[in-house]
Amino acid sequence: MLIWSPESDPIRSAVPRIDQLLANLGYGSRREVRGWIEAGRVTVRGLPAADPAAKADAADVRIDGEPPDHPGGLLLLMNKPAGRVCSHDPAEGPSVYGLLPERWRRRNPPVTSVGRLDKDTSGLLLLTDLSPLVHRLTSPRHKVPKVYRALLDRELPPGADDLFSGGAYVMPGEESPCAPALLKRIGALEVEITLTEGRYHQVKRMLGGQGCMVLELTRIRFGALELGTLASGRWISLPINSLDDL
Ligand code: URA
Repeated sequence: MLIWSPESDPIRSAVPRIDQLLANLGYGSRREVRGWIEAGRVTVRGLPAADPAAKADAADVRIDGEPPDHPGGLLLLMNKPAGRVCSHDPAEGPSVYGLLPERWRRRNPPVTSVGRLDKDTSGLLLLTDLSPLVHRLTSPRHKVPKVYRALLDRELPPGADDLFSGGAYVMPGEESPCAPALLKRIGALEVEITLTEGRYHQVKRMLGGQGCMVLELTRIRFGALELGTLASGRWISLPINSLDDL
């Protein structure tokens, strides 16, 4: 019987070991993956992989005949429900990661959120295992516009629009002014606010500084990405280059 081996593979440099590749993609521990290889469930270029330490390109690998799951990285757009944290610490309560398939929760590098939304905030949340993307999108240099919709306990004073857009508004407890933020009034108690920075509890604190308490907060847009009709708690997978222009 023909067995795939590194010796038969001309392009094996700079590619991971098969057991490491599949363990990092969340298929199981390296030990479990080795068991699959021994059982003949893993093939490389159509031939059973015999050696777990052999290197293989993900594009050539099949597990039970299926290609590996998102080998180039995951980028997800989720409609985060209120009541879930963006933290990996189980002590902080149920998390957004608990909504993902188990295999994705086992990936290494881990899937993390691009910035954070508060536990009681809902809406558009990006999740990825591509850490350079997280750094790029959360860097203050990039100024990605994010749009939030807030339900308030009372009407916002008339001057708030100019105050927020003027770039000189200093929130209570801060020393430096907020970057200009666009305010749109949707109804007497509902506003949309566009931020290009992400300070701690920024929307609640900006509106709080104007005497309004935020009763509900939802992020509806991140750069060019919109929440649309995605149901609460659901996610869609995006091509990993969909944020290249941001
Ligand atoms: N601003 C807030 O106050 N909370 C969020 O979750 C996001 C922005």
